[in-house]
Amino acid sequence: MIQIEDLVKSYGDLNAVDHLNLAIDQGEFFGLLGPNGAGKTTLIRMMSALTPVTSGNIFIDGVRMNRDESEIKSKIGLVPQHINLELELTVEENLRLHGKLFKMEKEVMNKRIKELLDFTDLYEKKNVIVKKLSGGMKRKLMIARALMHDPDVLLLDEPSVGLDALSRRKVWDLLKALKQNGLTVVLTTHYIEEAEKLCSLVGFIDKGKIVSIDSPENLIKQSGEVALECFDEQNGTTETYFFHQRQEALEKAKSLKLNFNIRPTNLEDTFIMLANRRVGE
Ligand SMILES: Nc1ncnc2c1ncn2[C@@H]1O[C@H](COP(=O)(O)OP(=O)(O)OP(=O)(O)O)[C@@H](O)[C@H]1O
Ligand SMILES: [Mg+2]
Repeated sequence: MIQIEDLVKSYGDLNAVDHLNLAIDQGEFFGLLGPNGAGKTTLIRMMSALTPVTSGNIFIDGVRMNRDESEIKSKIGLVPQHINLELELTVEENLRLHGKLFKMEKEVMNKRIKELLDFTDLYEKKNVIVKKLSGGMKRKLMIARALMHDPDVLLLDEPSVGLDALSRRKVWDLLKALKQNGLTVVLTTHYIEEAEKLCSLVGFIDKGKIVSIDSPENLIKQSGEVALECFDEQNGTTETYFFHQRQEALEKAKSLKLNFNIRPTNLEDTFIMLANRRVGE
């Protein structure tokens, strides 16, 4: 569905995206994790034809980016990192504007608006001016807008940033429902739990390159499924070690003679381990 080959985006001397290769199958829910400045937004912007590529290729459903921009754009729905709704227009007007941009027929558009307002639980707000919505409602409207023209691929750049825990879970529920409908989804996030809960495939990006890619389960397995946290009260430090067997963790804990906690490894541990390894290179 998505094929990225040797992709580069340069800003002067900096390769924000640096010879990146990536393949994402149809129906995959792909999460892109990485530190600030890793190149996530730059990659999403190139995939949505907002930023021209410096070199390399992006194919969406067999169509090459920069070849036929309107065809590519009709295949992609984008939820950008920053809110870019028309704040003085109503919820419904925002969706209608998008539909017109994509030259949707009026009847198809009306049906789609109704479906998406129901789906995002915004039907009762359809006549409200967008600037009066809460942050969570604005995010949901951005998702509805991105889905208006029935894209094959949905790209979301930090879809739940700035949301409280409850609103974030509502957005996750929406995304889970999309996953069940077989849409291909690519999201970037700093909420590692979000990637762990939603994504079938996770890629770690650093300095413009994908450094690790696998299912959340396999990434965790690679680190070791059992985490041992040891607290050194004298030095005020915590050290975390990873094992495949609980017994191994227990033996290590005994040998260190420190206070400890044994728990399942999570994706955040893997992320920190990979990030530290890169910093230490
Ligand atoms: N228009 C631009 N001009 C110059 N440099 C840019 C531009 N856009 C991005 N960059 C640089 O490219 C690199 C990648 O930026 P990008 O926004 O893609 O990171 P990100 O992974 O999305 O980070 P964050 O997690 O903070 O959103 C950064 O070093 C950034 O400063
Ligand atoms: Mg970004």
